[in-house]
Amino acid sequence: MNDDRLVDFIRGIPKAELHVHLEGSITPERVIALAERNRISLPFDGAEAVNAAMTYGNLDEFLNMFSLMCGTLNTSEDFSDVVVDMGADALRQNILYREVMFTFAYHARRGIALDTVIDGLAAGRKTCLEQFGVWINFIADIDRSTSPEEAVDFVEQLIPYRNEAGIVAVGMDSQELGIPPSTHTSAFRIAAALGFHTTAHLGWEEGPEFIWEAIHELPLERIDHGLRAVEDLSLLAQLVESQTPVTSCPLSSIAVDPVKYPDLATHAFRKMWDAGVFLTLNSDDPAMIGTDLVTNYVEVSRAYSFDVRDITHLVKNGVRAAFMSDNQKEKLLDQIDRYSKIRRREF
Ligand code: ADE
Ligand code: ZN
Repeated sequence: MNDDRLVDFIRGIPKAELHVHLEGSITPERVIALAERNRISLPFDGAEAVNAAMTYGNLDEFLNMFSLMCGTLNTSEDFSDVVVDMGADALRQNILYREVMFTFAYHARRGIALDTVIDGLAAGRKTCLEQFGVWINFIADIDRSTSPEEAVDFVEQLIPYRNEAGIVAVGMDSQELGIPPSTHTSAFRIAAALGFHTTAHLGWEEGPEFIWEAIHELPLERIDHGLRAVEDLSLLAQLVESQTPVTSCPLSSIAVDPVKYPDLATHAFRKMWDAGVFLTLNSDDPAMIGTDLVTNYVEVSRAYSFDVRDITHLVKNGVRAAFMSDNQKEKLLDQIDRYSKIRRREF
C-alpha cells in the first residue's frame, strides 16, 4: 500500500482521543515560557534541552519528569494556555473530540487550589470550542498513591465544577506497584453514584490479578493501557466477552518503559487486537514522548499492516468508547463514515 496516501488518510480522518494527560502535553516551548512567567528555575536552558531530556528507562523515571512538568503550572492562565495548546494541536491532527486527564494531587502537593486548576481548564475548554471547533472533556484522575480518604474527598470536591468545566469522568493513574485498585473502591463508587464515568490505568507494572480485582471491585467502564492482561488468557477472554474498551497507548509504553515494552512487534496491542478486545488508540503524554496521535496510527498501521478498513474501525472505536452524548457520537461516527467512504476509493 502507498504509505504517503495512508498517512494522509490517517491525518484527515476525524478522530477522538480518550487518553491524553494535560501535564504530559506541555510542549517544550510552553514549558520554557511557563517557567519564565512563573520565575521557576528548571534544569533546561531552552526548548531543545527540554526535548533532549525526555528519555526514560522506566515508569518511575517518567513520573519524576511528569512531576517536574507539573511544577510549571501555577495560575489559572497557565492551565488554560496548555488546554488551548492541546486544542490547537487537536485541530492540526483532525482530533475533533479529546478527553483530557488531569491529576490534581500533583498540584495540590504544591499548594495549588482546585479552583485555580478548574477555572483554567474551563476557560481553555471554552476557547478550544470557539476558536478551533474542538470539543474537550476532562477526566479527573486520582493519583493512586494518595490515601483512600483523600481520593474520596477529591471526588466530592469535583461536584460543583463538573458541568461548567466538562468533567465527565474520574480515573486513576501514577505508580501502580503495590497499590491494589481496591484501595480506591470508595472513591470510585462515590464517583459512579454521582454520575461520573469511570476508567483506571491498570496492568502496566502490576499483572492480571490487579486487573481482575479492578473488574470485580470497582465500577469501571474502561481500562487504560491494560498491557499485562495478555498474560492471562482467561482475562483476555473476559475482556473480549465484556467488550470493555481499552485505551491503548503503544508508543507511550515503548518510550517510557523500553525494557518491558521494547517494540510494536511484541506489544500487547497486537495480541489484544487479534483476540478481539475493544481497543482504542491514544498518545498518553505526547509532548513528553515526542509523539502524537497521528504518529501512533501511522506506526501501528505500518507494524501490523493495517488497511483503511482497520484504521477506520479503530477510529470509530475511539468514538464509541467516548464519554460523550449519544447525539455527539452519532454525528462524529457519521462524519467518519462519510470521510472513509470517499477516501477509500483511492486505495
Ligand atoms: N501519568 C501520566 N502518564 C501516565 C502513565 N502512562 N502511567 C501512569 N501514570 C501516568
Ligand atoms: Zn496515561
